[in-house]
Amino acid sequence: MARVQYFTACTLDGFIADEHDSLDWLFEAPHHGEDDGGWDEFIGGVGPMVMGATTYEWVLRNHDMVTNPQQWRDFYADRPCWVFSHRELPPIPTVDIRFVSGDVRPVYDEMRAALPDKNIWLVGGGDLVGQFDDAGRLDEIWLGMQPVVLGAGAPLLPRRITSKRLTLREVRHSDQQLQLILDVAPRD
Ligand SMILES: NC(=O)c1ccc[n+]([C@@H]2O[C@H](COP(=O)([O-])OP(=O)(O)OC[C@H]3O[C@@H](n4cnc5c(N)ncnc54)[C@H](OP(=O)(O)O)[C@@H]3O)[C@@H](O)[C@H]2O)c1
Repeated sequence: MARVQYFTACTLDGFIADEHDSLDWLFEAPHHGEDDGGWDEFIGGVGPMVMGATTYEWVLRNHDMVTNPQQWRDFYADRPCWVFSHRELPPIPTVDIRFVSGDVRPVYDEMRAALPDKNIWLVGGGDLVGQFDDAGRLDEIWLGMQPVVLGAGAPLLPRRITSKRLTLREVRHSDQQLQLILDVAPRD
């Protein structure tokens, strides 16, 4: 069965961006490995992607995707991407971006129907992933922990999920990054 996976980089104190939505701290960290953090293995199984408005706006802002859609394809190939927002956001020409809002469950059904055999990548942010977990639609977490402490920022996953539901399946270490892969069990 295809899985719903939250793959993200984070700090030691559990943030995925600083309080200004910057990822400078992530790009400063050394990345030397050929397959840093299991990216090739992970992305090979992914079909649909989903992200929140802030993450989408970060991508647009930092990679100039609207004027250069090829940059999107260089990162994500032809995977369809669902973007949650209450606002009207700019599409990326020729890229399959679908803007949605509200309950995550019908969106999950749509993503599953689009590519039934592929994993779904929850890109972030943390609360959107929490909404998927609230709906019982989060199976795995892939964390690339960096040797960074920020003290404040965008939270990794602002929910209470204890070890009754979280099982550490694998730990990997490459350069300065510690990768944790966790299984998330359904709520009782
Ligand atoms: N470290 C990493 O690898 C990594 C990975 C992913 C993201 N990030 C960064 O982390 C930060 C995450 O930002 P964030 O915490 O603000 O989360 P986000 O999920 O990117 O954006 C939150 C916004 O998404 C919209 N949204 C969420 N759920 C919705 C729903 N059910 N219906 C309609 N709209 C909904 C709302 O936008 P509106 O109401 O404003 O439209 C909400 O304010 C970003 O800076 C991003 O670049 C880092």
